[in-house]
Amino acid sequence: MSNAIRVGIVGTQFMGRARSNAYQRVGTFFDVAPPVVRAACDVEPAGLTAFARRFGWQTTESSWEKLVQRDDIDLVDICTPNALHMPIAVAAAQAGKHVICEKPIAMNAGEARRMLDAARGANVRHMVAFNYRRVPALALARQMIEQGKIGRIFHFNAVYYQDWLVDPDFPYVWRHDKKAGGSGAHGDMNAHTVDLARFLVGEIESVCGAEEVFIKERRLPGGKGKGTVTADDALYFLARFREGALGTFLATRFASGRKNYLRLEIFGSEGSLIFNLERLNELEYYSRKDQGAEQGFRNIVVTESSHPYVNLWWPPGHIIGWEHTFIHEIGDLLTAIGKGRDVQPDFHDGWRCQQVLDAAAQSAAEQRWVHLKLEV
Ligand SMILES: NC(=O)c1ccc[n+]([C@@H]2O[C@H](COP(=O)([O-])OP(=O)(O)OC[C@H]3O[C@@H](n4cnc5c(N)ncnc54)[C@H](O)[C@@H]3O)[C@@H](O)[C@H]2O)c1
Repeated sequence: MSNAIRVGIVGTQFMGRARSNAYQRVGTFFDVAPPVVRAACDVEPAGLTAFARRFGWQTTESSWEKLVQRDDIDLVDICTPNALHMPIAVAAAQAGKHVICEKPIAMNAGEARRMLDAARGANVRHMVAFNYRRVPALALARQMIEQGKIGRIFHFNAVYYQDWLVDPDFPYVWRHDKKAGGSGAHGDMNAHTVDLARFLVGEIESVCGAEEVFIKERRLPGGKGKGTVTADDALYFLARFREGALGTFLATRFASGRKNYLRLEIFGSEGSLIFNLERLNELEYYSRKDQGAEQGFRNIVVTESSHPYVNLWWPPGHIIGWEHTFIHEIGDLLTAIGKGRDVQPDFHDGWRCQQVLDAAAQSAAEQRWVHLKLEV
């Protein structure tokens, strides 16, 4: 078991809460020393105090610049809007801290590369919080693909649907502002599916996309006037993978009735795999080896102790949820820090993913195919 890692977190709302829950529980279920939740940082003082009290953070800071310099912190966890990822990560790495950063890793691939170089230069562990790699069903899908269960992959089709912006009265938030987020649904949701595509299929070498802002202005919260929406409401793109597969990706916040619907369909020469986040304990598998009248998709309930991560939890059939993926990522990160080894997805993965996102956005803007440079 490793020594206890002392954590400082920046950003205390949605992701700050999800990750705090993971820090609280990881030491109970993983074979790691329970982390010390040393300092929480936010610019909203009232919310920060309540957050620290609820989740047991020992101290608070209003300045991330101060937090990353503290000598009682080993790991900096970045849960802020995207524009702050690069400056916080670079400063934390240069101060010798390990870093976990929310996705998308940065505003653009240039920033992501700076983060990677800073982390490598400081020889610290670095991770991007693509938590869906750690859904047991998707970790199993990767194992099955590696074992050749679906053979050569022809198609990777991903949709990520939400509907919270269909309401024209939903107020203007940082996610509508390209300067705070880099992009909208694209960087938020396609970031996840592009990472999963790289995890399951491999590198993407060219893309062709289109984007739209369906509602151009939204009311400013708590005040008068309207803000102009500069970040995409939806972006879809076609892709070619280096190994020959074709891909489709669609991210939208205008899919009425779909709350957080991430669905993957992967078709290969020997079979197929289907995953739907709203049924995250299940993986559909079709094998061309099955013959006769009973051939068809089978539904694997991914709750056996032989399945990835499941032995940490409950007996077969006792399902887990979305929040467990954060416990898995923190468990793996703390294990890697303790053993002094790398962990994926790291800033290299984040940078690669960002290159694909940038290329798709460029393609949408210029209405043409964009080819990626896959240098290391
Ligand atoms: N992995 C996932 O499934 C997932 C889900 C949602 C969001 N995210 C990512 O997590 C990040 C945060 O998103 P969120 O939904 O938690 O946002 P949020 O708006 O709920 O929370 C952001 C927090 O950062 C704080 N903050 C803003 N500026 C700050 C500063 N200068 N110093 C300190 N704190 C500051 C805000 O006050 C707020 O508490 C984004 O990068 C987003 O893309 C990931």
